[in-house]
Amino acid sequence: MPDYQRYQELISRESRHWGEVRPDPDNPQLWHDPELYEIFFGIEYRSFIERIVAKRGTVLELGCGEGKLALELAQRGMTVTAIDLSTERVQRANETARVSGVGSRITFLVDDLNTASLPPETYDCVVAHDALHHILEIDRLCEEVRKSLKPGGSFIVWDFVGMGPIRKLFAALLYAVVPTYQPYMAKWNLRHRLPAFLAGERSKRAALEKGSSSLLHPDSPFEEITQRSMIDAILKRFTVTERHTFAPFFYYLAPKVRFPRAMKYSLARSLKRVDDMLLRLRFSEGAYFFLEARKN
Ligand SMILES: C[S@@+](CC[C@H](N)C(=O)[O-])C[C@H]1O[C@@H](n2cnc3c(N)ncnc32)[C@H](O)[C@@H]1O
Repeated sequence: MPDYQRYQELISRESRHWGEVRPDPDNPQLWHDPELYEIFFGIEYRSFIERIVAKRGTVLELGCGEGKLALELAQRGMTVTAIDLSTERVQRANETARVSGVGSRITFLVDDLNTASLPPETYDCVVAHDALHHILEIDRLCEEVRKSLKPGGSFIVWDFVGMGPIRKLFAALLYAVVPTYQPYMAKWNLRHRLPAFLAGERSKRAALEKGSSSLLHPDSPFEEITQRSMIDAILKRFTVTERHTFAPFFYYLAPKVRFPRAMKYSLARSLKRVDDMLLRLRFSEGAYFFLEARKN
């Protein structure tokens, strides 16, 4: 962990970012367009939910955001505890749970997963969706997860491991030349962000240790601070029973490209088929992974 004062400043910035983040019409994301999300992630997401629900009992969600997954698990009969760094996000999650009538089955907590202590042997299942790549102290957190699971309990993770520098460079070049919601001039003005976009976990962590912010996202300093090492941290302590990657490339560009409106979703489906082919031919790995692991 960087020196304590600097860590406090960075984690406050991270928390503020997540509290304030809203859909940006210039830079749309897959998860803000339900039809695009369904095309690229629908089958995978439903299978993720079913895997968790099959565990029954008590579940802890790490980095729950505004509570979408926690809510669905409570609606499916699980007793849920869900943690997030952002007070604003947790407030919104609490409000949605109350309105949905499942508030009594969910406890939302504000805590920093880099430092949080989890209660021992409490949960049948711990889950994380798109959250662990923001955790600096990933090894420590995985140990806390192991301790907090009951014997035989499951750790189920959906996360982002990044595209690697070559695919990222290719994505950046395509993004620069094709018409996107972000105008060409705005894209050109973002060129100074390219080194941070291309940087992998090791160089981001080295920059952090040196006290430099040059490779960190300006608003979300811990964005992608953990990539491949989260898999190693899990493999070290759990028996992995299922693991695969998905979404190698076009999931990233599909929401940002300004397709002719009438063809948007049919073109996106074609891009998804190309993504599937890249995986099948083992041309590349997915940028996301699913993993289910058991505590021995
Ligand atoms: C990409 S969002 C995913 C949110 C949610 N899991 C989802 O899939 O919609 C990442 C979440 O991790 C949370 N987060 C980031 N760093 C954290 C930390 N150190 N401790 C707890 N939560 C953190 C953020 O506040 C944010 O809500």
